[in-house]
Amino acid sequence: MKKVAVLTSGGDSQGMNSAIRAVVRTGIAKGFEMIGVKRGFKGLMENDFITLGTQDVSDILYRGGTFLQSARSEEFKTEAGQNKAINNLKEQGIDSLVVIGGDGSYRGAQALTKRGINTYGLPGTIDNDIPLTDYTIGFDTTLNVVTDAISNLRDTMSSHERVSVIEVMGRSCGDIALQAGISSGVDAVLIPEHDWNIEEISNQLTSGFQRGKTHSIVMVAEGAGKAEEVARLIKEHSKLDTRPTVLGHIQRGGTPTAFDRLFTSRMGHKVIQLIEEDITGVALGMEKNEITYHTFDEIFNAENVVDEQLYQIFQDLV
Ligand code: F6P
Repeated sequence: MKKVAVLTSGGDSQGMNSAIRAVVRTGIAKGFEMIGVKRGFKGLMENDFITLGTQDVSDILYRGGTFLQSARSEEFKTEAGQNKAINNLKEQGIDSLVVIGGDGSYRGAQALTKRGINTYGLPGTIDNDIPLTDYTIGFDTTLNVVTDAISNLRDTMSSHERVSVIEVMGRSCGDIALQAGISSGVDAVLIPEHDWNIEEISNQLTSGFQRGKTHSIVMVAEGAGKAEEVARLIKEHSKLDTRPTVLGHIQRGGTPTAFDRLFTSRMGHKVIQLIEEDITGVALGMEKNEITYHTFDEIFNAENVVDEQLYQIFQDLV
C-alpha cells in the first residue's frame, strides 16, 4: 500500500482545499494511506503530519484558504532544512509527496525530486505565473473577486466623476490585471510585461471625460507600479480627480469558483493516477482543457509570457 503526503505552500489560493480533497479522496479510493502536512515545507521539517480520512476533507470543497495552512520557509531552501524533511518522510514511510503551491514551492519540490523523493506539483497561486499551464489554482476566483470590486468602485467613481486606480497582485505577471481588466472594460492596464507612458494614459482619460464618460478605471499590476503613485501622476498630468485602491489580500480569499473546483478536482484525481503509474518529478496543469504534466526541469526551462493576443484584444476594445 502506498503512503502519500500532501501539503500546501507559499501564498494560499482559492481552490487549494478542493485540490487537497481530490488528492485525498482519490488516494483513499485506490487504497492508499493519505497524510496531510501542516504549514507546507515548515511542517515537513518539523514532522507535523496528520492522517487524513474521507471525513477529514469533507466540508472544505467550497472554502477559500487551505485547512492544512501554508508558510514560506527560508530554512527549507538550505541543504540542512531539506535533510530534515527527507529524514522525516523516510521515517514516516511516505512514498510520494504532492506539493500544492507556486513558483517558490516548485523550487522546493524540484530540490526534493533531485534528492530522490517522488514529488508532484499542483500549481497553487492566484498569479497565473507558472509556465506550461493555462491556469493556476485560484486565478479564476481572483478574477471574479477583482471584477466584483471594480463594479463597486465604478458606482462611486461615477457619482463623483473620478478616476479609480486599482492595484492588483502580480509581482512579475500581469495576468490578473489584464484579464480582470478585459472582463471589467477598464480604460488602461499597466502590467510588468509592457512599458507604460503616463502622458498617453492621462490624455486618453481626459478625452474619455470630454466624450462624456462619468468615470475611468485604471488597473495596475503590483509589479508595474503602485496605485498611489500612478494616481498622483495621472492627477498631475490631467487634473482629473483620482483615487487609489489597493485590493491586497482580499483577492486571495472567497469561495472558489466552479471552474477552480473542477480544475483542482481533475488535477487531484490525475496526480494519484500518476503515482500509481510510478511517473514522478512532475507538475500538473491544464492545457487546452486537458490535464497535462511536465517535469519540474521543463517548467523551469520554459518562460512564462503574457498572452499577447489578449493584450491586443484589450487594446482594441478600449
Ligand atoms: O504569489 C502570490 C502572491 O499573492 C503575490 O501576488 C503577492 O505579491 C504575494 O503573494 C503576497 O505575499 P504575502 O501573502 O506573503 O504578503
